[in-house]
Amino acid sequence: MAFNLKGRSLLTLKDYSPEEITLLLELSHQVKREHRAGNLNQRFVGKTLALLFEKRSTRTRCAFETAFGEEGGHPVFLSSADIQLGAKESIEDTARVLGRMFDAIQFRGFKQEMVESLAEYSGVPVYNGLTDLYHPTQILADLMTVQEVFGTLKGIKLAFLGDGRNNVARSLLIGCSKMGTDYTVVAPDGLQPDSQTLELCREYAQRSGSKIEVTGDAKQGVKDADVLYTDVWVSMGEEEKSRERLETLRPYQVDEKMMAATGKSETIFMHCLPAVKGNEVTFEVIESAASRVWDEAENRKHTIKAVMLATI
Ligand code: CP
Ligand code: NVA
Repeated sequence: MAFNLKGRSLLTLKDYSPEEITLLLELSHQVKREHRAGNLNQRFVGKTLALLFEKRSTRTRCAFETAFGEEGGHPVFLSSADIQLGAKESIEDTARVLGRMFDAIQFRGFKQEMVESLAEYSGVPVYNGLTDLYHPTQILADLMTVQEVFGTLKGIKLAFLGDGRNNVARSLLIGCSKMGTDYTVVAPDGLQPDSQTLELCREYAQRSGSKIEVTGDAKQGVKDADVLYTDVWVSMGEEEKSRERLETLRPYQVDEKMMAATGKSETIFMHCLPAVKGNEVTFEVIESAASRVWDEAENRKHTIKAVMLATI
């Protein structure tokens, strides 16, 4: 292995170079091939993984549990309702205790500072399984899916429609700009990426050759896109914004007309899931032949396994 990622946490893709992301993706394809061929490996025997969840999850939890478990490791699921964290124990103390018992920790929750404190105080690799700000393991699965379909990340245009400043959109901005994938955020004012992240990613893009655009004009934004990507209009923790979002984001729904507006017959549809059919995407599009959402969901497992193999 040209790069040694042992002991590293994954808190945001900002911390990983394009070469390191490439390495993780190569390893992801390899573990997927192994899995398909029925090759069993036991690379996590005797290892333990703590899975901390403040927010709900289907894919992320199952990806971590199955990926770790089928390699012989022992994952332990800990929801906020079960542990002292948040009730009477601080994140620093929780981190130091978990670090003595586990080989790695996954955290899904609200504050990015929580996952950062876990990494700082535990002394073991910590994985961000989604915070209000970032969702890095999702983006690895997305990039892997794009590679499977198009054979490359360079020069592919991905347009994200909807809440362009949420955790998934922000993390896609980071991942695409690092990897040479053109990225257009198609979102109304107020739901576009923050200027700080945008500025940073324009620097990444300059190095990778990717083109970053932000527009409120859906027709213009999706033109020539190889991938239309969307996410829920209301992220976990923002439920009070529901009514307002439904109104503002209606013009950004991915329907068959939006797919056709790319002008490309090979455009695929992606979504991190869970999806609210009839809001951000129509039933017809998510169930169409252009939809890659199930491959994308499966790839969560292979990419998460690769991250753990590289870092533990
Ligand atoms: N995409 C994703 O993170 O799904 P879950 O919320 O089900 O984990
Ligand atoms: N933006 C969504 C992603 C869910 C996987 C949320 O945070 O709820």
